[in-house]
Amino acid sequence: MAIEQTLSIIKPDGVKKNVIGPIITKFEENGLSVVAAKMQKLSRHQAEGFYAVHKERPFFGELVDFMTSGPVLLMVLEGENAIAKNRELMGATNPAEAAEGTIRKMYAASIGENTVHGSDAPETAAFETSWFFKGGDIVSH
Ligand code: CMP
Repeated sequence: MAIEQTLSIIKPDGVKKNVIGPIITKFEENGLSVVAAKMQKLSRHQAEGFYAVHKERPFFGELVDFMTSGPVLLMVLEGENAIAKNRELMGATNPAEAAEGTIRKMYAASIGENTVHGSDAPETAAFETSWFFKGGDIVSH
């Protein structure tokens, strides 16, 4: 398996619930390391560009409103098979469908307020990581 990097976001609901610690612990206990991190309140421009792939969806406005409603923790995670591993740990997009023990099952309230984001493929991981971090911001262990 390859060592990969993926973008992780702890969304405004996760920050508000004060569960940054347990979420990062879950990543670390499962072989993922934080190699870049910053807390930020996203601008509409940042959120709209990040989620541009969803701009025709009916929920796009709601998604941007939510993602700009409070601070988020942006992180790059690194590890073996990091993209799929992160998605497995997050659980299904809709917390009602998320498996027991996953982050969304434990903390998410709804499909919109679903606590975490993770890149879904190598191409999106590259785009999403570069949307928020410059190469020099990422420090592999
Ligand atoms: P995320 O993994 O960040 O990627 C896109 C986001 O759009 C997704 O998580 C959800 O939070 C959000 N989303 C997807 N479907 C819906 C929906 N039907 N209603 C509201 N938000 C949605």
